Amino acid sequence: SYMAKKIVAGNWKMNKTLDEALILVSEVVNMVKDEVTGDVQVLLFPPALYVSTLKSYVKDAPMVSIGVQNIHQKASGAFTGEISAPMVKSLGLSHVLIGHSERREYFGETNEQLAEKVDIALANGLTPIFCCGESRDLRENHDYIGFVKNQLTESLFHLTAEDLRKIVIAYEPIWAIGTGLTASAEQAQEMHAALRGHLADKYGKELAADISILYGGSVGAGNAAELFAQPDVDGGLVGGASLKSRDFTEIIKAR
Ligand code: G3P
Repeated sequence: SYMAKKIVAGNWKMNKTLDEALILVSEVVNMVKDEVTGDVQVLLFPPALYVSTLKSYVKDAPMVSIGVQNIHQKASGAFTGEISAPMVKSLGLSHVLIGHSERREYFGETNEQLAEKVDIALANGLTPIFCCGESRDLRENHDYIGFVKNQLTESLFHLTAEDLRKIVIAYEPIWAIGTGLTASAEQAQEMHAALRGHLADKYGKELAADISILYGGSVGAGNAAELFAQPDVDGGLVGGASLKSRDFTEIIKAR
């Protein structure tokens, strides 16, 4: 939607040593400063271990912010290995990915649990990038639009309008993640329009027009412009190509 904030986010997943991460973030910051004009917001989601170090590298680039790839749904306690929303807030970070398909698939995250993560993120002033998307089997054999709408219903529709307004949505069809097989611009637009319509049914058209809906799944320098040209695609959540500064910068420029 032309009302919604334009965002390009890089999800580094479980990649890069600290030295490699510092090189990548420096390159991205320099390229963005030199080459990117306009109102696009750039978000980087490195491994959580590095966020406090990397934060100081982006302070001269107001366009670029750092976030984390996951939080626990509780504020503190005996949850070995986990990190909480208050911890993320205490570092002065602003964004968190919630419900990435890899978290759902390999760590058993459910729509109900993700509703709790959304709540604790918002309670700590963090912006959730809420990820949703269907498997190949759903796409080929079932009501894939109904399935993704239901992910929103179960994890977001308990929110007040005031809180829903703070959410960013990322549609990532699982069959397109890391496969090099991107959704076509038409497939992305179809789902994005359906999700925006679903938000409008519950929260009204005006609010739905303000929500950024990002596309993720094999976004690259070669296909970003076509995807971003779709009326309901407000930006991208980029995996593999965000690990290469030149590719990632070209994607940002396409937005
Ligand atoms: O969160 C981004 C992601 O899942 C897409 O990954 O490598 O297909 O761009 P990739």
